[in-house]
Formats: sequence, C-alpha cells, structure tokens
Amino acid sequence: MTTAPKQRPKYYDLNLAHLPVPGLVSIFHRISGAVLFLPVIPIALYLLQSTLGSEAGWLRWREFFADPAVKVIVLAFAWLYLHHFFAGIRYLLLDVHLGVAKAPARASAKLVFALGAAATLLVAWRIW
Ligand code: HEM
Repeated sequence: MTTAPKQRPKYYDLNLAHLPVPGLVSIFHRISGAVLFLPVIPIALYLLQSTLGSEAGWLRWREFFADPAVKVIVLAFAWLYLHHFFAGIRYLLLDVHLGVAKAPARASAKLVFALGAAATLLVAWRIW
C-alpha cells in the first residue's frame, strides 16, 4: 500500500467555461440581481422622474435613447433583467421540488438562457 499523499487540485477552478449550465445560470442570476439593485433601479427611477417631470425632459431622453450605442447598452441591461426573471422562476420551481433531478435541472437551465435570449431579441425588435 502506498503512503504517497493524494494528488489534490492546488487552486479553485474559477473558469466560467468549465461550469455546468446550472452553475452559469446561478452566477449570472447573482450578478444580475446585484446590477439590477445598483445601478439599474436608481437610474430607472431618475429617468422616470425626469421623463414625466416635463416635456423638455421627455424630449431630451428620447433623443438620448435613439442613439444605437445606447440601445445596445439598454439591451444588455434588458438581458440581465430577463435572465434574472427566468432564472428566478426556475429557482422558485426548484424550491417547490419541481425539476430538481440532474437531467431536468440541466434542461431548465438551458431553457433559462434560451428564454432570456429570445425575450431580449423581442426587446431589440421593439426598440429598433
Ligand atoms: C429589479 C428587480 C430585482 C432585483 C433588484 C433583484 C435582486 C435580487 C438579488 C440581489 C438577489 C440575491 C442574489 C444572490 O445573492 O444570489 C435576488 C435573488 C432572487 N431573485 Fe431577484 N431581483 C429582482 C427581480 C426579481 C424577479 C422579477 C424575480 C421573479 C422571478 C426574482 C426572483 C428571485 C429569486 C427567486 C431569488 C432567490 C434565488 C436563490 O434562491 O438563490 N427577482 N434578487
């Protein structure tokens, strides 16, 4: 019997590309939750106040959001929200023990990414 110490990894594998799909859904859910809280909510409230406050404010922001570069940024935030939303529904279903086995959990994780991408495309179609 050998007494040599077992080979163990000397570092954590933090490469996102090596995570299983449910792990990716989870990390993006956490990141999107944080980004939605700050800065998205304060910005959205400020825009609401500014656009509803006066006609000049409305026209200024309408021009700002007509810029294609701004639309791309809006789409990135839209994807973050939509991913958070669909992943959130998935977690609520897991909480009531729906789809907890490995195969359905992986399938639902892929579905979260697919629905997030499809809904973001719908937003892109709507704002362009
Ligand atoms: C602007 C709106 C929202 C903000 C700022 C927000 C923010 C957050 C944050 C910061 C977390 C903690 C993430 C973590 O530490 O892992 C979280 C978790 C969660 N969110 Fe949201 N969220 C929003 C909207 C929603 C919506 C619409 C849903 C509906 C599906 C949702 C469902 C969930 C669920 C189920 C969790 C817990 C996930 C778990 O068990 O780990 N959230 N949210």
